[in-house]
Amino acid sequence: VYKMCSRIARVSYIARRLLSETKTKKHTVAVIGAAGGIGQPLSLLLKLNPGIGELRLHDIVNIPGVAMDLSHIETASKVTHFTEKSSCAALKGGVDIIIVVAGLPRKPGMQRSDLFKANAQIIFDIAKNMAELSPEAILLIVTNPVNSVIPIACEVLKDAGKLCARRVIGVSTLDSVRAATFIAELTCCDPRDVTVPIIGGHSGNTILPLISKANPKVSIEGEKLMKLIKRIQEGGTEVVEAKAGKGSATLSTAYATSRLVFAILRAFGGESNIVECAYVKSDVHPELNYLATPLILGQNGVEKNLGIGKMSECEQKLFCELIPNLKKDIEDGEKFAKEAL
Ligand code: LMR
Repeated sequence: VYKMCSRIARVSYIARRLLSETKTKKHTVAVIGAAGGIGQPLSLLLKLNPGIGELRLHDIVNIPGVAMDLSHIETASKVTHFTEKSSCAALKGGVDIIIVVAGLPRKPGMQRSDLFKANAQIIFDIAKNMAELSPEAILLIVTNPVNSVIPIACEVLKDAGKLCARRVIGVSTLDSVRAATFIAELTCCDPRDVTVPIIGGHSGNTILPLISKANPKVSIEGEKLMKLIKRIQEGGTEVVEAKAGKGSATLSTAYATSRLVFAILRAFGGESNIVECAYVKSDVHPELNYLATPLILGQNGVEKNLGIGKMSECEQKLFCELIPNLKKDIEDGEKFAKEAL
């Protein structure tokens, strides 16, 4: 009996140690474009997360100062920085999460797709470097146009034989954040209590909030509902116009991106049923091979795609309207990658 009890005690000690090691495992996160308008506040938020052991900051200008500044914060994560033109050095040797915020932002009057010319090559190059140096990482892309650059990254990784689609994620969390905020404004509740599935893409009418599935339930109808949907779709433009030529949303984007990163870190730690909406390679709809939907996050990125589910009549109509635009954005990305490869 004594022998058996001590064996049980030992097994349970090892199990507890293993569990606590998984829970406290520190991860390496690289931010590409870390000295920019989104990169700086995002890096600050990441520096505060105890799940991050090393924060690698890459940018082509101003990064030594940003890294030095952040490194004085009394949290355990180590801050390293990389100034080379290419992101190679930052991606070498086992990065767990790569976040791309590099690239040009919109100016008033521009659509996100107008950024394609400036930003497509940036994503192409980073995906190439990732395929070679950190193919196991989870890639989060914030750079616009998200609808087109995720297909670029997937095509590059596929060509290199390194595509794991559940690990390539277009960050559309800001749409969820805005939806919660705008609904709470109308219903006078705490925005943190509001969740709304957002499907489609991350641009104009491709952003489709499913208000009929908001939690808690909301009774917003008719013209008021259409105005709310439009405001969520045009939230980015609202900020671009308010900034009057000085860029697009940076602080709320940094917050939204950190929300997704922290959710992934919690999933890495073994927490289950973590749901966020994001834009990913998808087989949910026959006409769209990339689509934002609610996803369950797990140790390997997307654990399960929760799909679209039942939509209201009005949402079905809006979904049909977004298909041609999203298809075009996807095709633009795929075409660019195929020509450049
Ligand atoms: C946003 O939604 O704020 C971002 O995608 C930036 C933009 O250009 O709108």
